[in-house]
Amino acid sequence: MNGILIENIKQLVQVRKTDPGKTSSFCRGKDMSRLPYIDNAWLFIRDGVIDGFGPMDSCPYTEDIPLGTKIIDATGKCVFPSFCDCHTHLVYAGSREKEFADKIRGLSYREIAARGGGILNSAALLHQTSEDALFEQSLVRVRELIRFGTGAVEIKSGYGLTVEDELKMLRVIRRIGEETPLTVKATFMGAHAVPAQYKGRQSEYVDLVIDRMIPMVAAENLAQYVDVFCETGFFTVEDTERIFTAALKYGLRPRVHANQMDFSGGVQTGVAYGAISVDHLEHTGPDEWEALAGSDTMPVLLPGSTFFLKMDYAPAREMIDRGLPVALASNYNPGSCPAGNLQFMMTLACLKMKMTPEEAINAATINGSHAMDLSLRFGSIEVGKTANLFVTVPIPSYEYFAYAFTSPLVETTILNGKITEQ
Ligand code: NIG
Repeated sequence: MNGILIENIKQLVQVRKTDPGKTSSFCRGKDMSRLPYIDNAWLFIRDGVIDGFGPMDSCPYTEDIPLGTKIIDATGKCVFPSFCDCHTHLVYAGSREKEFADKIRGLSYREIAARGGGILNSAALLHQTSEDALFEQSLVRVRELIRFGTGAVEIKSGYGLTVEDELKMLRVIRRIGEETPLTVKATFMGAHAVPAQYKGRQSEYVDLVIDRMIPMVAAENLAQYVDVFCETGFFTVEDTERIFTAALKYGLRPRVHANQMDFSGGVQTGVAYGAISVDHLEHTGPDEWEALAGSDTMPVLLPGSTFFLKMDYAPAREMIDRGLPVALASNYNPGSCPAGNLQFMMTLACLKMKMTPEEAINAATINGSHAMDLSLRFGSIEVGKTANLFVTVPIPSYEYFAYAFTSPLVETTILNGKITEQ
């Protein structure tokens, strides 16, 4: 038996119980402000799984501790479930800090892209980078995410934009899932930008995505999802519908980059095609909210890129007040958010999108897990779930996490029931 006992936990955060028979779990509307926690708690991990937890005065392991159990004293410290980061592009080559300087001088994201920079710049770099080098570069970001408290992550392709390079990216993503303790979901995003050689022939590039890329991705079983950048200047609603129709035939469930720069129609298209999530949503109003209401599509908000691109934030408060769920993700990528720290994203969510700390924690844990079809295994402290959690340094309360936004607060990370090397 492999056991870990964490005792004297100041606050054990996000303790839940999923009703038997439920196929997923997340919270919406008013329920997002409910963050169940236990003061002065214990938690026992057996063979990688959360085996039990409760208040210290009911701890069954005070004298009779199973042989071989490692004990962690969490006096003054909180325990959180690991974050579930459901939108990243963390596999990329090099970086784009030169464009950061262009942005400061006044160029917009769209202007940089139109000049051949942006995603196409990253695609050119990735083309020159070997699969092994790409893996090594991405590993640095993976280790960083683990240190920040993330335990499950969605990673997209989309800096390849050729058959070979898209497959190269997806193989790297698969390797991250196999060789690191992060749980990884992969998304094929050939429709991230139109490559320069297809300029003026966008529908031919969409044909390539549909006729060659999707079948090859499916043949190697390299992705669970398909994503499209449905935005003026990138891909139209019609392109998006064609790609989703083709992908669904191969069992790839849609997700969509929607309404980042404009009212693109992407939200309605995503919902109509049963997308697991619609992401960005800086430009949404009653039409988009109505489309989302009653669906199980998760709206995923990415305040890190809104901050970095100096745009207006998604209207999270209005969405939650209308009964919608929201998830928060990092959108870790070289162009609009070269950062993967969900602690900072939660601070932005609170300060810029008027979410409470409880809503932000729910958005980055249980709702993020739902947006990766992982809510029965991750996203909360629950008996039977995989032991993915972290112990903080001493902090006064869980609210401190989004408050002390540059302090490194994660002390010990446990993924799949094992303490990770930091
Ligand atoms: O989600 N919007 C499209 N994709 C990324 C940015 C990618 C890049 O600029 O490299 C995003 O913001």
